[in-house]
Amino acid sequence: MLAVAKEFQGKPGGRAGWRERYSGQILGDLIAKAVSLGNDTLGLYVSEDNRKALSLYSAFGFVPLPDYVVHETVITMAKSLREPDGGVKLQG
Ligand SMILES: CC(C)(COP(=O)(O)OP(=O)(O)OC[C@H]1O[C@@H](n2cnc3c(N)ncnc32)[C@H](O)[C@@H]1OP(=O)(O)O)[C@@H](O)C(=O)NCCC(=O)NCCS
Repeated sequence: MLAVAKEFQGKPGGRAGWRERYSGQILGDLIAKAVSLGNDTLGLYVSEDNRKALSLYSAFGFVPLPDYVVHETVITMAKSLREPDGGVKLQG
């Protein structure tokens, strides 16, 4: 599970500093780790009402996989680690 302690959420502030956001640093490190381990794809589950997490994952190129249903309130997302456009190779 990816989480940022409440006092550090949305920090450092300001849209100009998105690259420095702690949330993005953590997710970026996870993606880099997955790449370094030779993975083709990175997947995750997120609750459909978790707006902030959905925005974060979308900003990093994760796309919903509507054919992967684990629960009706959960969205499965994945990001290709091989294609520059973030396309996903998984089959439904
Ligand atoms: C989900 C969570 C990790 C996000 O961290 P956060 O610090 O609250 O979120 P941030 O404010 O940095 O990021 C969310 C916003 O910044 C944007 N953003 C962050 N980094 C960005 C980047 N590098 N590029 C573009 N946009 C970025 C997102 O699009 C989003 O925009 P919006 O809220 O204005 O629509 C955090 O809220 C949390 O720990 N929640 C509780 C645990 C949880 O729900 N974890 C997810 C489980 S799936």
